[in-house]
Amino acid sequence: MSAHLTIDPHFTVGTIDRRVFGGFVEHLGRHVYDGIYEPGHETADAEGFRQDVIELVKELGVSTIRYPGGNFVSGFRWEDSVGPKEERPRRLDLAWHSTETNEIGLHEFSSWLEKVGSELMLAVNLGTRGTLEALDLLEYTNIAGGTALSQRRIDNGRTDAFGVKMWCLGNEMDGPWQLGHRSASDYGKIASQTAKAMRQLDPSIQLVACGSSSAHMPTFGEWERVVLTHTYDDVDYISCHAYYEEKNGDLDSFLASAVDMDRFIETVVATADHVKAVVGSEKTIDISFDEWNVWYIDRYHGVDKIEGIDNWPVAPRLLEDVYSVVDAVVFGNLMISLLKHADRVTSASLAQLVNVIAPIMTEPGGPAWRQTTFFPFAITSRLAKGVALEVKLESPTHTTEVYGVVPQVDAVATHDAEAGESAVFLVNRSRTEAITVTIDVSALGAVQLRSADTLADDDVYAKNTLEAPERVAPAANASAAVEAGTLTIELPPVSWTAVSLGA
Ligand code: AHR
Repeated sequence: MSAHLTIDPHFTVGTIDRRVFGGFVEHLGRHVYDGIYEPGHETADAEGFRQDVIELVKELGVSTIRYPGGNFVSGFRWEDSVGPKEERPRRLDLAWHSTETNEIGLHEFSSWLEKVGSELMLAVNLGTRGTLEALDLLEYTNIAGGTALSQRRIDNGRTDAFGVKMWCLGNEMDGPWQLGHRSASDYGKIASQTAKAMRQLDPSIQLVACGSSSAHMPTFGEWERVVLTHTYDDVDYISCHAYYEEKNGDLDSFLASAVDMDRFIETVVATADHVKAVVGSEKTIDISFDEWNVWYIDRYHGVDKIEGIDNWPVAPRLLEDVYSVVDAVVFGNLMISLLKHADRVTSASLAQLVNVIAPIMTEPGGPAWRQTTFFPFAITSRLAKGVALEVKLESPTHTTEVYGVVPQVDAVATHDAEAGESAVFLVNRSRTEAITVTIDVSALGAVQLRSADTLADDDVYAKNTLEAPERVAPAANASAAVEAGTLTIELPPVSWTAVSLGA
């Protein structure tokens, strides 16, 4: 079987915003405690942060990190997480039925972000709190000094303002599971009021309104329309969240999950542009895809979920999905989908980073290792620079139960004119057939193949685990060659590939 692409630097989709390679750290399970923070660990630094994890997060190449939730934020009092550690209260976290010790809070997390080289994106609680608490937090983080709350920050050891630029106005407020779940118009009103107030305090911030927590919510579409009607002038982004999993053994549909992400993005863009026309605005709202991943959510509901009035563990093992090759192929395809929409998806956060549906796993007192999904993220973040290019794709198709007829190959290219570098990211969604792809790269001029790496395995369910942490890794694809303006490469069944080209 064969497929064909044409790459031309003139076919620009949009500039790739580095924020698309963002992550997400929620106070959930063993993400913070026993994940990034384990004071007794042999690699722990003076602040108790695991340096082996810091190195892996750096290797992953994560830009902005959303914090501290997620569902957690809707019950969170930010004041609990600052000040002397011994005075910080232990609180019930109703979202995950756990105990939050508040040992790690805003100051400690910011210090960790400096070590990993990432930027902070904060979420305010619009579930059980409101505008005043959001303003208080913004004053604490962004006002240099001379006020009660900025002075409190200084007294707590941080002289300079944190200068947080990107803010989420709550989390998944369309979800009935959310503390403080609201209707679209109730949420739209409080989001607009809070956004206006926050901008009055700091006009330089960028604000994200909550979109739908999935494209399959019953309120999807109408939720975006109503929320944006209330907030259009006050916010910069509308969020999207999407998680995918293999259901009922339907691997073909699972492998085509990015088709759903494409449609999701395009529907939200159309809705945002519809509101733009109705309100007569000059401004364009972008998407912050601030939760995306593969997540076996049924496992959480069926096995992991904690219950009981006397049962509120600290840092329990929750959402510790172990990812396979096929999960990583779908994951890599989701990144292709984000890049294909680089004109409107200008921020995204992989949910999440360590232990909790994460590319990095740790064992207390033991090693840290890369899950299969680590590789597509790290390689895409490293190679996808400059602008995203539309590829003219001709691919064989097959029929899936959930998404109908889909192309077997999906791809996107990127081009950094200044550095003279290009990259192509491809997936083969066929379970059985290798596909030879010919790519017309003549419009790029004289290019050389720098590298071609493919993630595939005879066992598509192979995983990296504590016992075998390096079982799965990408390998050089020896079939790749550039000759007379054509790049040829063979994609094995169920595979993800990244090709790097240089002048
Ligand atoms: O990432 C796990 C959870 O998924 C988040 O807390 C929530 O926002 C979403 O439902």
